[in-house]
Amino acid sequence: MAFKQTILCIGAGYVGGPTMSMIAKNCPDTQVIVVDLNEARIKAWQSETLPIYEPGLREVVDEAIGRNLFFSTDVIANIPKADIIFVSVNTPTKTYGQGAGRAADLQYWEAVARTIKEHATSDTIVVEKSTLPVRTAEAIERILHASQNGVHFDVLSNPEFLAEGTAIHDLENPDRVLIGGREDEQGQKAIQTLVDIYAEWVPREKILTTNVWSAELSKLTANAFLAQRISSINAISALCEATEADVDEVAHAIGTDSRIGPKFLRSSVGFGGSCFKKDILNLVYLCEHYGLTEVAAYWEQVVLMNEYQMNRFVDKIVSGLFNTLVNKRIALFGFAFKANTGDTRESPAITVTRRLLEERANVVISDPQAIPEAKHDLADVIDQVEFSEDPYEAAKGAHAVCIMTEWEQFKDLDYQRIYDAMLKPASIFDGRNILDHAALGEIGFNVYPVGKHAIVNG
Ligand code: UDX
Ligand code: UDX
Repeated sequence: MAFKQTILCIGAGYVGGPTMSMIAKNCPDTQVIVVDLNEARIKAWQSETLPIYEPGLREVVDEAIGRNLFFSTDVIANIPKADIIFVSVNTPTKTYGQGAGRAADLQYWEAVARTIKEHATSDTIVVEKSTLPVRTAEAIERILHASQNGVHFDVLSNPEFLAEGTAIHDLENPDRVLIGGREDEQGQKAIQTLVDIYAEWVPREKILTTNVWSAELSKLTANAFLAQRISSINAISALCEATEADVDEVAHAIGTDSRIGPKFLRSSVGFGGSCFKKDILNLVYLCEHYGLTEVAAYWEQVVLMNEYQMNRFVDKIVSGLFNTLVNKRIALFGFAFKANTGDTRESPAITVTRRLLEERANVVISDPQAIPEAKHDLADVIDQVEFSEDPYEAAKGAHAVCIMTEWEQFKDLDYQRIYDAMLKPASIFDGRNILDHAALGEIGFNVYPVGKHAIVNG
């Protein structure tokens, strides 16, 4: 069948894979090809077992794969076929040189831009899907147009706002789609091409168009605001623990103010995920670059508060277990950075595990999806950690259970059975406030929630 147009996406990760599958599903007359250098990842997209766990993704992929959705490792051969190229490669925090620990590492992005330039044979729209520092599009445009070969490129910024675990819902019903482009005629034409794709399933009034810089900065700002809400409620959780207040009651009370709103006010052991920390550090670097020292310090505090919250959680475990963890078995329920994903990037569980190991505890990790990733994250200390898919096994003989991820299944466990199999006194540190603390107290547990008073039985 002849397709109306061809979209190529470079980078088949958590963002590229689901986003392209959704476009393919909703635009059957558009050919969508997703490429990645990682052969194993591409094979997995073509197989029964997708490379990422995301509820509902299988159905979306199944609808389009082989019809108008294709996965391949051949980047170069597919570039000339594309009318639109999305770039969704990773942009981790730099670990070396100028801006190390803060700035985004743009080496993959630039390499991709150079490959596109070399192999494109007709006018192409290049779309930034990765989150990039403000003004990257300009640099990319300069690279693409250096040593003209008669091919014209338009660079658009189309940041992705999906959250993992709810990616399919977020893609199907986005709050908004944001497209930034140049204000000249050609830029506006490119914007319209991308608008037409999303308009196949997203109401037109939810598709916002801006200039390129606004789109780039909006993505960093959205993540900074979201993370700031969590750090704000976590800061209050420390005060609640020091006083008689309950952080959930405070969150509910403030969340009923329509100006504040109820979402994203769940106090926790801390936020994780590939985006929040990276994007805030990026924003901080950007502010410093422009000499805005106070603004940089303001946003950096969001990350520092998150580290404080993770450390406070471990401090609570140490003091709750009589100031020594040596050889004590501690079961972590959950390792993913949030529920409904196998992703562990920047998961608070990593920080907590490493600190528990420093205290010479015996850590056993249970998670319904994230054990393979956890093994990868803890490769250097793997002989000091145990893994068990069965939370009852993990808790057997333990001094403490720590809830690290808000998986539904952890709410429904038989905690009497868990208590019976643990050493006494048995403690639960609920880093997500998902359990019925009073009921656990009745069973006999010592219970340590976040931002609420502890229940100490023995
Ligand atoms: C990525 C970025 O990390 C994030 O900043 C942005 O907001 C969205 O895109 P994600 O999809 O979660 O997020 O990253 P990841 O799962 O690491 O996927 C990136 C993929 O790009 C990997 O599969 C990697 O193999 C691939 N890649 C990277 C290439 O194909 N070519 C490269 O040159 C570099
Ligand atoms: C985030 C943004 O929500 C999304 O728009 C952007 O595209 C990518 O970054 P993600 O990191 O996938 O998405 O998940 P999110 O639901 O935002 O959760 C991030 C972290 O914050 C998780 O560790 C989560 O457990 C934590 N969190 C979230 C809280 O601790 N409390 C809350 O109230 C909400």
